[in-house]
Amino acid sequence: MSEFKPLVFSGVQPTGNLHLGNYLGAIRKFVALQESHNCIYCVVDLHALTAQLVHDDLQGQTRSITAAFLAAGIDPKQHIVFNQSRVPGHAELAWIFNCVARIGWMNRMTQFKDKAGKDRENASLGLLAYPSLMAADILLYRATHVPVGDDQKQHLELTRDIAQKFNIDFSKRIADTGLGVDMLVGEERVNGYFPLTEPLIEGPAPRVMSLRDGTKKMSKSDVSDLSRINLTDDADSISKKIRKAKTDPEPLPGDVEGLEGRPEAENLVGIYAALSDTSKEAVIADFGGQQFSAFKPALTELAVSVMSPISAEMRRLMDDPAYIDGVLEDGGDRAGAIAGKTMNDVKEIIGLLY
Ligand code: AMP
Ligand code: TRP
Repeated sequence: MSEFKPLVFSGVQPTGNLHLGNYLGAIRKFVALQESHNCIYCVVDLHALTAQLVHDDLQGQTRSITAAFLAAGIDPKQHIVFNQSRVPGHAELAWIFNCVARIGWMNRMTQFKDKAGKDRENASLGLLAYPSLMAADILLYRATHVPVGDDQKQHLELTRDIAQKFNIDFSKRIADTGLGVDMLVGEERVNGYFPLTEPLIEGPAPRVMSLRDGTKKMSKSDVSDLSRINLTDDADSISKKIRKAKTDPEPLPGDVEGLEGRPEAENLVGIYAALSDTSKEAVIADFGGQQFSAFKPALTELAVSVMSPISAEMRRLMDDPAYIDGVLEDGGDRAGAIAGKTMNDVKEIIGLLY
């Protein structure tokens, strides 16, 4: 339990089309959290440079993710929506965190290992330092809660490690400046400048899997477009992709335990549960014992009813780039004001003249 003011922060990279995994794992939660929390949602364009430096249309991609946020129901007036590169504090704090974090911590990240592949020496330094920039995104606002899909869990643990090491390394300066906040770490009451951020991952589909292979996550970079449902897919494509989704020959089991060892069945049931805001148990109670030939049309109808209003609104917003740019500029101004205060505190704590 921290005594930091509750604040939600999350980010999405402007690389490729958003898919159902992004929606169910992240964006839908962003929307729900607006009811209970102050929220900051960021299009992380600096992160997009880590795996590939040169992009055809980074500005267009940034607008498109922003349009998806707004179309899904994020309110940019009540909350903050902006793109990362507008607020210089992200890169500035990331540099400080590069000096807090250890190379060994970065080398252990599974996302780095996956993205760097066999030729690690040739990966960009930015790809290695990616989690340090992500920690800076979150801690620049001293955010307490971060909604993400399950694949980001390790990065959030690293964010806590960075916050904790900063709090310990500078504990005397934090106490002397009086800039710290009392918080509980385990049983212990400590004073620190950065909160130990909590991930918000739970839900029936924390990791949405590929429609072609239930053991691989649904991903923007999968070569097969049939593997994912894009946020911009029309009803016909959604229907075709669900019809062609891989399954096994058995009917749906009578209880949730029966999904074990059936990754494709488990994935489709999880998607249905998440889209209808229920649990896998509730879906099995309705569809247990039925064939996929009956379940798939029901899933299609549900997916179309949830997704098509979002894609229609996204298309409408994409026709008005000036409006989107205005949202990002306004969000950037408001985020920048919070970030500026944190950077001054951090400089005071470290002992940099400012
Ligand atoms: P990215 O597309 O990597 O920028 O991810 C944006 C957000 O979507 C992050 O919170 C991810 O954890 C989440 N996400 C990406 N892919 C999936 C997936 N297949 N299932 C659930 N969440 C996902
Ligand atoms: N690494 C996240 C992803 O690939 C994107 C991200 C960057 C992020 N900074 C963040 C998510 C801060 C949450 C909070 O999905």
